[in-house]
Amino acid sequence: MQIVKTAKELSELCRSWHKDGQTVALVPTMGYYHDGHAALMDKARGLGDKVVVSLFVNPTQFGPNEDYASYPRDFERDRAVAEAHGADALFAPEPAELYAPDAATWVEVPEMSTVLCGASRPIHFRGVCTVCTKLFMLTQADYAVFGEKDWQQQAILRRMVRDLFYPVTIVSVPIQRAEDGLALSSRNVYLTEEERAQAPEIQAGLRYARSLVEQGETRVSVLRDAVLRRWASRLPLGRLDYLYVVDPVSLATLDEVKGPALMACAVKVGKARLIDNILLK
Ligand code: PAF
Repeated sequence: MQIVKTAKELSELCRSWHKDGQTVALVPTMGYYHDGHAALMDKARGLGDKVVVSLFVNPTQFGPNEDYASYPRDFERDRAVAEAHGADALFAPEPAELYAPDAATWVEVPEMSTVLCGASRPIHFRGVCTVCTKLFMLTQADYAVFGEKDWQQQAILRRMVRDLFYPVTIVSVPIQRAEDGLALSSRNVYLTEEERAQAPEIQAGLRYARSLVEQGETRVSVLRDAVLRRWASRLPLGRLDYLYVVDPVSLATLDEVKGPALMACAVKVGKARLIDNILLK
């Protein structure tokens, strides 16, 4: 596996692969790998002739009071995981390599970026769209693989790619979970033992909502109240950021579950802000 540090090197490497008729699958990541990242890499391995994993904690998607500086990092461990999961290149640039001091260009999908996580993280998706654009341009990737834990992210990137005719196919991979149901996340390391013990209730609450839908409930207000009541007793350490039911493609909020519907939430548990989602239908 090649370690690539500069944009120029990455672009030249991918161009040479394309010239030989090889396809490229890209896995954009911020590192501190867990089995969720490994599943993205495994998926990419089955899609492209060559796999590029990018490892870059992207400063522009963190707000001023967020955890950019303290975001967990472990380059040596990540390098070993990427190699073990078949990456051909690990792109690990310094921030200055991707953002010139006078960088002035942003890519955004405004309407879909102000709901759900975007309501409390107003610049987040602009940073994600911009860095993913840079990665797509440098790699000319045929496929880019994202996790469904960040459902909003992959929905926004699908819209960006469609609207701007990027020649890449976005592929998403189901949420990977711990045995007790907690969605795997690099931020789970922030949880204390007591917080970790309560955190699986996030998914249990969402599954409860889906069971109510399976029994015929369609009113979102009823589903929401049921989940919040359950969390109040079983997840007392959780502070709700949001809990919505949205159209899985457009992210428009829904009042009734008639067709495809996604329940998505963010809950702060101690220092960690945990997100999760479930398709209700
Ligand atoms: O999901 C992530 O880890 C990041 O948002 C991404 C897609 C790598 C962009 O920095």
